[in-house]
Amino acid sequence: MTERRILVGPSILSADFLRLGEQIDAAEAAGADFIHVDVMDGCFVPNISVGLPVLEAVRRATHLPVDVHLMIVEPERWVERFVAAGANVVTVHVEADHHLHRTLRAIAEAGGQPSVTLNPATPLTTIEEILPVVRQVLLMSVNPGFGGQTFIPAVLDKIRRLRVQIDARNPTCRLEVDGGINASNVRRIVDAGADTIVAGSAIFNSERGVEDAMATLRSAIAEAS
Ligand code: DX5
Ligand code: ZN
Repeated sequence: MTERRILVGPSILSADFLRLGEQIDAAEAAGADFIHVDVMDGCFVPNISVGLPVLEAVRRATHLPVDVHLMIVEPERWVERFVAAGANVVTVHVEADHHLHRTLRAIAEAGGQPSVTLNPATPLTTIEEILPVVRQVLLMSVNPGFGGQTFIPAVLDKIRRLRVQIDARNPTCRLEVDGGINASNVRRIVDAGADTIVAGSAIFNSERGVEDAMATLRSAIAEAS
């Protein structure tokens, strides 16, 4: 089996926004590898979350890489500003952008790491031409818009197929999965080929706290399959 370091990043969508600094500190102390920030515009997805001012605050609160997931229409209008506000990785949806190649190049030119994401219903063929130029592909394992949804198991096969393509065409590209991930399914997701895990409610809504939730997720990842 391939030995690959698995990165885990909490999605602050499920954090307590009144205590966001403390929640980020707790995640960092518990060994988070990055912080995932979900930006929703009420148009691409049926929900509105946070934008640039919150990203700037997150940037001041942590030294960890910040992974920004843009669930917005016309992301090309915004990517430079998200990099300037502190995003290390900027992820755009293929479904939201008519000129994906240009947007990914703009992210890189602004100093960010270009990343692309696909909704569960969007086929892998949509990223065939841009796979060599991205630093990360995010496969959505729920329909984006809300935390706390259930993982869609059909995505496991999509992860497997993408892993083969990444290994062949862009082996340093990260394969991130986001949505419905918890200690009971994370091992299957990693076994399918994911190397970067986003978890929101499993980390911030756990009754036993952020530290315990991160440790539980890590030990589930480390379990022999
Ligand atoms: C969903 C977001 C996710 C969400 C994950 O649209 O992109 O990042 O916060 O939350 P959980 O882990 O609770 O599904
Ligand atoms: Zn997300």
